Amino acid sequence: MADNVKNMSKEISKAMDGVIAKSEKIKLSKFATKMSVKEFELYTSFIYNNFGMHITENKQHMLELKIHRLVEANGYENYIDYFHMISTTKDQQKIIEFLNEITINKTDFFREINHFNFIKNSVDFIMKKNPRIEITKEIRVWSSACSTGEEPYTLAMILREAFPENIRIRILATDISHKALKKAIEGRYGEEIKNQIDSYFLTKYFKKTASGYEVKNEIKDMITFRAFNLKSTFPFKNGFDITFCRNVMIYFDKSFQEILVEKFYHNLVHGGLFFIGHSESLTYIKNRFKYLQPTIYIRE
Ligand SMILES: C[S@@+](CC[C@H](N)C(=O)[O-])C[C@H]1O[C@@H](n2cnc3c(N)ncnc32)[C@H](O)[C@@H]1O
Repeated sequence: MADNVKNMSKEISKAMDGVIAKSEKIKLSKFATKMSVKEFELYTSFIYNNFGMHITENKQHMLELKIHRLVEANGYENYIDYFHMISTTKDQQKIIEFLNEITINKTDFFREINHFNFIKNSVDFIMKKNPRIEITKEIRVWSSACSTGEEPYTLAMILREAFPENIRIRILATDISHKALKKAIEGRYGEEIKNQIDSYFLTKYFKKTASGYEVKNEIKDMITFRAFNLKSTFPFKNGFDITFCRNVMIYFDKSFQEILVEKFYHNLVHGGLFFIGHSESLTYIKNRFKYLQPTIYIRE
């Protein structure tokens, strides 16, 4: 009997060792995805203060998944240790990796097409309101959250088609995500873009590749891509004739939107146009723009 008990307890203890080893393994390779309230606040304030993005509680799960991936990829075992690293690091690569993960880069060619139709059909109006274009023979455009490039490439094609040949088209395309910019600079896209681009533009401005399409150099040459955080001071010496800031202000809160819209206003020439995304509005934001039509404004 005593031997039986001994054997049984040996068996149990062997079985328990297995359970403990297994659970320790799980604990070592994974920690709970759920953030505490304090951790969520730390990350959201860091993101808001540095990059302007206002992440509300209903987005907590999405943020947890993204940061969880970063914590593990960097060999940390909890949110706090990774937070201390990312909030104090001087290593730009770490910040770039963080931004690549937390930004949402959804975009398409000819997205919100009425903006491009407006430009195409309003060349006389644009040139009349902004004589600088005719005088300098150039149009300066800023795509200020350009993501993977579809927006500035669409602008380049539309402007080339709409404006006289002797007007030089210069587009500055910026984004905070280096990963998105890398794709934008390559200008290579999959087969699916033929559902977004009219065959006229596809044939004229793209080369066929084995896996899809590549933007031709004559269009690429009109665009300068740069990393730029909209939270930083605008360093531009000359005003833009057209600024696109579409589908990014939705991530910012009202006070940052007001500051940003004022900076965009200040950096447009008189007669310059300002375009925002279809789910965005300046109605409740203090601003000096004149409304032209929904999501399209002018600096008079
Ligand atoms: C949803 S995409 C919009 C792309 C394009 N404008 C459009 O409407 O299709 C939003 C972009 O804003 C960028 N972004 C977010 N915060 C930013 C910031 N503080 N400064 C610059 N770009 C930012 C993201 O990296 C992302 O590529």
